[in-house]
Amino acid sequence: MEFKRLRRLRQTKALRELFYETRLYSKEFIFPLFIDDGKNVFERMPQLDGIVKVSVDRLHEILDEIKKADIGGVILFGVTSQKDEMGSYATKDDGAVQQAIRKIKEYSKDILVFADVCLCEYTSHGHCGILKGEKIDNDKTIEVLSEIALSYAKAGADIICPSDMMDGRVATIREKLDSHGFVYTPIIPYSAKFASSLYAPFRDVANSRPAFGDRKSYQMPYQNKREALREIEADILEGADAVIIKPALTSLDVISTAKEKFNIPIIAYNVSGEYAMVKSAGKLGLLNEEEVIIEILTAMKRAGADAIITYHALEAAKILNGKE
Ligand code: PBG
Ligand code: ZN
Repeated sequence: MEFKRLRRLRQTKALRELFYETRLYSKEFIFPLFIDDGKNVFERMPQLDGIVKVSVDRLHEILDEIKKADIGGVILFGVTSQKDEMGSYATKDDGAVQQAIRKIKEYSKDILVFADVCLCEYTSHGHCGILKGEKIDNDKTIEVLSEIALSYAKAGADIICPSDMMDGRVATIREKLDSHGFVYTPIIPYSAKFASSLYAPFRDVANSRPAFGDRKSYQMPYQNKREALREIEADILEGADAVIIKPALTSLDVISTAKEKFNIPIIAYNVSGEYAMVKSAGKLGLLNEEEVIIEILTAMKRAGADAIITYHALEAAKILNGKE
């Protein structure tokens, strides 16, 4: 019987490595940073082992590490107790995130600063939009989001990343940025964001759980792939420069199809729950953490991701680049 000997090319490490179809580079990683609005805060997060929450005055303590890791950039999330119905703290030009943006850009031009734009960390009710009764006022919300985006752009953010999932936010933000001269500030929205239980550790850390109800009227049902592709298409038409898809591990099919269908860069967001699962299993000695991290990130790239937002960014960079 005739058969193919595909194992021929797997016989040595050198042969295998010659034909790797997917390779990881630290420059493709984006590291999430939680910026606390207080003073002298440098706190390790028990929900996200290895991740810290920092105030602006202690930000430099982690910037050296980020620079050394030679990663692509950071994405910023605000943590504050100054909350109200409108999430007004988010639009303050001297808010903690705005100060952090300025500080990071002063520290190094080579660390890209992605600014997550949303209201849930800033509203007293914890929802990602402005409420009218118990419902979200979509069109009012996108106005406020565009003000937040402008404030971040003025502070020097390299990239604006709306994560709210309201309709029309990309068009509204684009218009707002353009009319203030920020025509070259890219918008990379979370286009396909599924309502997922894998965001739980993030919400604990960011103190952004909704006070009532859930996010299912704006984040997508994870049952729907075609709807995810429509969301991506809509955002591209509104002016998105690239798109974010999340969670990553449960959306590899969406990433893969979007890659074939649309001519736009894709960022996979390896979310907090995905990170926590790996960390917990590693701690229990159930698996080789370093190997699993690289395997997971490689799978995201193989699916079609051009870059990855991941809490593993610093450790993965160390694994790839050597630990000096
Ligand atoms: C805010 C936001 C969330 C995440 C990123 N931006 C939380 C949420 O939608 O509740 C989740 C990230 C993660 O789990 O790491 N809208
Ligand atoms: Zn939100």
